[in-house]
Amino acid sequence: MQIKPFRIEQYFGKYEFTAKYLLSSSDAESRTIQELLELEPGSQEKFLRHWCGYTESPGAPELREVISGMYKGIKPSDVLVMAATEEGIFVFYHALAGAGDHIIVETPCYESALELARSTGAQVSEWRRCYENGWAHDLAALEKLLQPNTKIIYINTPHNPTGLLMTASAFQQLIKLAASRGIIVFCDEVYRELEHDPANRLLAACEIYERAVSLGSMSKTYGLPGLRLGWLASRDTEILERCLEFKYYTTICSSAPSEFLAALGLRHREVLVQRNRDIVLRNLPLLDAFLRQRSNFFEWVKPNASPIGFVRFKPQREVQSFCEEVVKNAGVLLLPGTVYDQPHHIRFGYGRKNMPESLAQLSAYLDAHS
Ligand SMILES: Cc1ncc(COP(=O)(O)O)c(C=O)c1O
Repeated sequence: MQIKPFRIEQYFGKYEFTAKYLLSSSDAESRTIQELLELEPGSQEKFLRHWCGYTESPGAPELREVISGMYKGIKPSDVLVMAATEEGIFVFYHALAGAGDHIIVETPCYESALELARSTGAQVSEWRRCYENGWAHDLAALEKLLQPNTKIIYINTPHNPTGLLMTASAFQQLIKLAASRGIIVFCDEVYRELEHDPANRLLAACEIYERAVSLGSMSKTYGLPGLRLGWLASRDTEILERCLEFKYYTTICSSAPSEFLAALGLRHREVLVQRNRDIVLRNLPLLDAFLRQRSNFFEWVKPNASPIGFVRFKPQREVQSFCEEVVKNAGVLLLPGTVYDQPHHIRFGYGRKNMPESLAQLSAYLDAHS
């Protein structure tokens, strides 16, 4: 298998645990295990007694039950639990695609969605979105990319890195197009339920199209990436069966303590979402005002979901060296768009409690150096 370096994770690997101010994280504020256990009386004792043997490969039954309850028309058997969402991307592509297949990937995107597709040996086309037209989804361009052997279309809504939702009409048109040709839609929904206005939430792809697979995660909206737990949800039993066959070669089953804590967290997810949405809604206007005040430096399409946004960097200088300078001198971690092949953008994150402080640090640094 040929695979390129994962630039996003490499960049975070270099600075995430040393930088003092994280201003580009895509996961919302986290919690302690104790805080999770406090969500439900008696759960601390249960957790301490929880058996640490292997669990069922498709996922612990109580967890599949609670995940299926998050969707309309999805049964526990339509859910395949993964040891992190990242495993879900790897397993999905490798179980379903290979040489001779064609995959379309919406870009810019979380890098593994593109590189893991390529690593299967399939031919991969990018369905490109661009800042100049407000990151709109060009359905006509998508249609032109289709080939007789197109097997999968990958989309991501709410979207990393722009923090934008696909419009309901683009989403419906895309599903219709895929359904007319029996193409599998792999819909990365890891930021779902963190729409800034919940009224804008789209239906999950697995709810509206039988050959769609929805990718879910504990990491982003719920702020629990340390559980390393994600899932695939689909009404297509053959797709899930093939992914399960592949999972036997990656992790066999997920971590028993993580499955316990994920089920507990999801049973109380309105508490997790409410706290994280409150943080996002408090931080976003501050970040937007900061960007407006510095409109000689920055501009963006203001996000409407997730804790991230993609900001155009106007000065004629390399964005990567700017971000490295900021992290080294001010301790503020920004993510340069070069890791998405977008050399004029920077990813900001506004899902952490201390974002106002991080922003103040960046502001002071820019004042002193521009
Ligand atoms: C769009 C998207 N999909 C998948 C992942 C992987 O998630 P996890 O860390 O839960 O494996 C990420 C993480 O940043 C992401 O942004």
